[in-house]
Amino acid sequence: GSECTVSITVVGASGDLAKKKIFPALFALYYEGCLPKHFTICGYARSKMTDAELRNMVSKTLTCRIDKRENCSEKMDQFLKRCFYHSGQYDSQENFAALDKTLKEHEGGRTSNRLFYLSIPPNIFIDAVKCASLSASSGNGGWTRVIVEKPFGRDSDSSAALTTSLKQYLTEDQIFRIDHYLGKELVENLSVLRFSNLIFEPLWSRQYIRNVQLIFSEDFGTEGRGGYFDNYGIIRDIMQNHLLQILALFAMETPVSLDAEDIRNEKVKVLRSMRPLKLEDVVLGQYKNHTRGGVTYPAYIDDKTVPKDSLTPTFAAAALFIDNARWDGVPFLMKAGKALHNKRAEIRVQFRHVPGNLYNRNFGTDLDRATNELVIRVQPDEAIYLKINNKVPGLGMKLDRSNLNLHYAARYSKEIPDAYERLLLDAIEGERRLFIRSDELDAAWSLFTPVLNEIEEKKIIPEYYPYGSRGPVCAHYLAARYNVRWGDLG
Ligand code: BG6
Repeated sequence: GSECTVSITVVGASGDLAKKKIFPALFALYYEGCLPKHFTICGYARSKMTDAELRNMVSKTLTCRIDKRENCSEKMDQFLKRCFYHSGQYDSQENFAALDKTLKEHEGGRTSNRLFYLSIPPNIFIDAVKCASLSASSGNGGWTRVIVEKPFGRDSDSSAALTTSLKQYLTEDQIFRIDHYLGKELVENLSVLRFSNLIFEPLWSRQYIRNVQLIFSEDFGTEGRGGYFDNYGIIRDIMQNHLLQILALFAMETPVSLDAEDIRNEKVKVLRSMRPLKLEDVVLGQYKNHTRGGVTYPAYIDDKTVPKDSLTPTFAAAALFIDNARWDGVPFLMKAGKALHNKRAEIRVQFRHVPGNLYNRNFGTDLDRATNELVIRVQPDEAIYLKINNKVPGLGMKLDRSNLNLHYAARYSKEIPDAYERLLLDAIEGERRLFIRSDELDAAWSLFTPVLNEIEEKKIIPEYYPYGSRGPVCAHYLAARYNVRWGDLG
């Protein structure tokens, strides 16, 4: 209602995520008219800063994403006027009580809904939750919600401990665990593709699908983030959350409805049907330095914040299996790596051979190349394409592979929103569909915890791959063991 107000406090306001993602996403929502009439954005961090300094800092990363032709400096100014700064310690109830006072002034006696975005390191996380909930939560009938970013622990036990501590201060309903991959346009579209097109869902099983590949690559290393990354590694950073979330949406059964609880129930079910990952089904890699065109790209261990003898994987490939009627025996292969030759996230679905294919002889000996493949390119250059066999026009009978291609940039003129825009809006509106429930988190950790422990106990040495390459060769052997060829390698 018009007498409600939303106060959004970005805790850790001077951090990278806040600057690069959260403030720009809030501005985009403001620009699109998605924020309520009365709102306040408050940056909270330890360093001393004035409102003007915060505004200046924030203004540097705001862009006119929505309409590039328009000069949106006026809108930016209006937005920045609603941004304030409050300095305080993350573990001080007194400082949060002072924040509460400031927020109240801005709220002007209206019902206050309060959203806290915790963009701070895990070791100070619980303290901040405690202080926010005890000293700065909405006191007058509005809601209080907290968005939390991973890492949600580093294995089953630490994650469960974190959940227990969180629940001392917040109900599950108030906790919004973000996995920003769920906010990506093509990940949201997965369910539309499957459940509203007759031609996909009937094929969505072991009967027609040979394997599914979830691929994440970045063409830059951990430069600057080594301190965080070294304690986690690529399996925890990308696989256990982003890729596994995509897998769950891809493989879940049809939910009863599109309600948050119905969807998350199905995701938990499919995660619980999976076999914990085994060491023999994992390939680990770490990038080493490489000189190309006169430029030397650093090794992972060249990062000053990374111990010289670190074995932390910056690349991993894994084969996972879902032991249910739909997916029995279908390998789900994941591959995630940093400092590779390109930046990409995609889902590849390789279909089976056509039984008794009349055209087999037209494909030569490599029949695997003649199967259909559906590619959902999450980023960059969003696209969905289906590889089909087609007759090359002409008098002869020559076949080739062509794409039925839905290329977003060609089809839609509207810019694709950033994942954080959708997720922030959902959190403000209380829509929980794209946030991770605690039982999902438990199930996700159960799949990876045993192998993560084994990797650390046995001090498994990763395969070293050159910065900017296609990653460890062993990833091919892993795929080959399950008769799979990585689709992204042609
Ligand atoms: C984060 C990881 O969750 O996702 C980073 O911690 C990674 O290591 C990032 O770079 C990738 O996100 P995006 O949206 O840029 O693909």
